[in-house]
Amino acid sequence: MSIIDAPVSPGAPAAAPAPHAPQSREALPVRLEGVGQSFGATHVLDGINLDIEAGEVLAILGPSGCGKSTLLRAVAGLDAPTRGRVVIGESAVDGLDPRCGVGFQEPRLLPWRSVKANVELGVPRGTAKAEAAERVEELLRLVGLAEAAGRRPREISGGMAQRASLARALSRRPGVLLLDEPFGALDALTRLRMQELLLTVHAAHPTTVLLVTHDVDEALRLADRVVVLGREPGAPAGSPAGIAEVHTVTAPRPRADVHQELVALRHRILGQLGVHAPAA
Ligand SMILES: Nc1ncnc2c1ncn2[C@@H]1O[C@H](COP(=O)(O)OP(=O)(O)OP(=O)(O)O)[C@@H](O)[C@H]1O
Ligand SMILES: [Mg+2]
Repeated sequence: MSIIDAPVSPGAPAAAPAPHAPQSREALPVRLEGVGQSFGATHVLDGINLDIEAGEVLAILGPSGCGKSTLLRAVAGLDAPTRGRVVIGESAVDGLDPRCGVGFQEPRLLPWRSVKANVELGVPRGTAKAEAAERVEELLRLVGLAEAAGRRPREISGGMAQRASLARALSRRPGVLLLDEPFGALDALTRLRMQELLLTVHAAHPTTVLLVTHDVDEALRLADRVVVLGREPGAPAGSPAGIAEVHTVTAPRPRADVHQELVALRHRILGQLGVHAPAA
């Protein structure tokens, strides 16, 4: 496996922080040390080594089934890796990690609770009531759901539900935000809006973000670095995936898809993923 471009380039804020945004918990660095995961005789991942800088937005790409969600679950502490370890800040992940906020492709809102009550679910126990209320209100405003706070999940659109899910993940003030194809089920226009929103949210709450996506353009639009997971070329079937490539994206935000650097990276990454698009 080759890491062709390893230097870290943390993200410049995409927009000015929201004026009344409360201080987030500090963004935390993540270190993957020889992470490997097997399920019985199925070896999914192996030898994943990567340093992710505090506040960095890292996109993770790779073919379906290569282990992207598995890697995210290891960082969140949802599944312990079979080999190696994940270190967040100063300490290794050992069980479900309260420093992580997680968002999935499906918003996973509780249908009988209002949008606001769903967001409240993310606030850690023991948070003072007034502080929790202020935090939830600020987040609902930030993701544009203040007006819809009292509605139930069935009364809102898919994009709104995904925004509620993002607010819930942020309501614990995570040092690390883990997003597994968060916009995958949305229509193209809503997806673009959500990408913009993520950059705005990241500016207001500059947490470290690990974003799994299938969308190369989304990765290039949002990330400081793009990691491509995959198997070694010519590796026998059933061998685990590792880091095939790491690309640093230096284009300033907001990024135009036609930016020369992005066009070249897009071509290279699609090639890595086995899609041979005509050269631009
Ligand atoms: N709990 C589990 N038990 C057994 N096998 C599992 C388990 N979780 C994941 N796997 C296997 O690990 C492999 C990687 O799964 P994972 O969900 O991480 O892939 P992915 O890259 O996220 O795929 P996709 O892009 O389709 O979401 C798959 O072959 C899957 O069947
Ligand atoms: Mg997945």
